[in-house]
Amino acid sequence: MSRNGRIAALAMMGIALAVAAALRYQLSWLGFPDGFRSELRRSSSRDWCLVAHQVGFFRTIPPARPVAFTMSRTLPDRLTTARLVLREPRLVDAAGLFESYTQDVNVPRYMTWRPHTDVSQTDAFIRECIRVWAAGDRQSYVLTDRENEQVPVGMIDARIRGHIVETGYVITRSRWGQGLMPEAIQAVAEAALAKPTIFRVQATCDVENRASARALEKSGFIREARLERWMVHPNVSAEPRASFMYARWK
Ligand SMILES: CC(C)(COP(=O)(O)OP(=O)(O)OC[C@H]1O[C@@H](n2cnc3c(N)ncnc32)[C@H](O)[C@@H]1OP(=O)(O)O)[C@@H](O)C(=O)NCCC(=O)NCCS
Repeated sequence: MSRNGRIAALAMMGIALAVAAALRYQLSWLGFPDGFRSELRRSSSRDWCLVAHQVGFFRTIPPARPVAFTMSRTLPDRLTTARLVLREPRLVDAAGLFESYTQDVNVPRYMTWRPHTDVSQTDAFIRECIRVWAAGDRQSYVLTDRENEQVPVGMIDARIRGHIVETGYVITRSRWGQGLMPEAIQAVAEAALAKPTIFRVQATCDVENRASARALEKSGFIREARLERWMVHPNVSAEPRASFMYARWK
């Protein structure tokens, strides 16, 4: 091979090595810190958009509207546990929820709403759940048994506030004490904390709501504080009452 030929061959090898290195480390070159790479591998494509946007990859190509951000924050539409399905709310759920618990005066004792006296109130509530689910900042899952997804037995909320998800929950009285809600709470907490952008899941409960506190503790939540005059529970008192703050984080 001529001298020029050898130089050309060496140059080609050098270019090939440079390209290989570039492909291997391209994420670092684009400004992704190391920690993001493992997150990216675990994340859905919607999360890719958010993470890439956060680190400035798309800084020169701003999204037309913040759809990628809103969508990427949502949890899965459907979650399953050993015994339960957590699914999106449907208009037909109103009658089932009314029968199951919204009209039961014992269930909402420590909730912010009063028992429903007519199914139209539950209907209005479920319509609002469907509307805000579509908006992306709050997912109110309907709980059903795995064997029968048509009959609602309760609900659990995931309200997304930046890097925090707040949860609230309720289950029909005939199913209390079976450990079902801890299953649902854990499913929501794990789905939330699996998101690269969510770092904390929290819930508050009235200081006298022992059943709720136990459900959170059994779901791995830590009691962080007692919040004085935190929440009005109108079925107990018109005045704001103290709550415990519980959280799980990563
Ligand atoms: C709080 C609630 C969601 C707990 O759900 P659950 O599926 O019954 O949870 P668990 O089966 O793990 O039981 C939790 C605790 O409830 C209590 N409990 C059990 N059986 C009960 C019963 N028949 N009646 C009342 N409380 C009971 C026990 O203290 C239990 O704790 P333990 O397991 O250490 O004994 C449920 O009681 C409920 O829907 N309550 C009304 C709505 C409400 O208060 N929501 C929370 C608002 S912050």
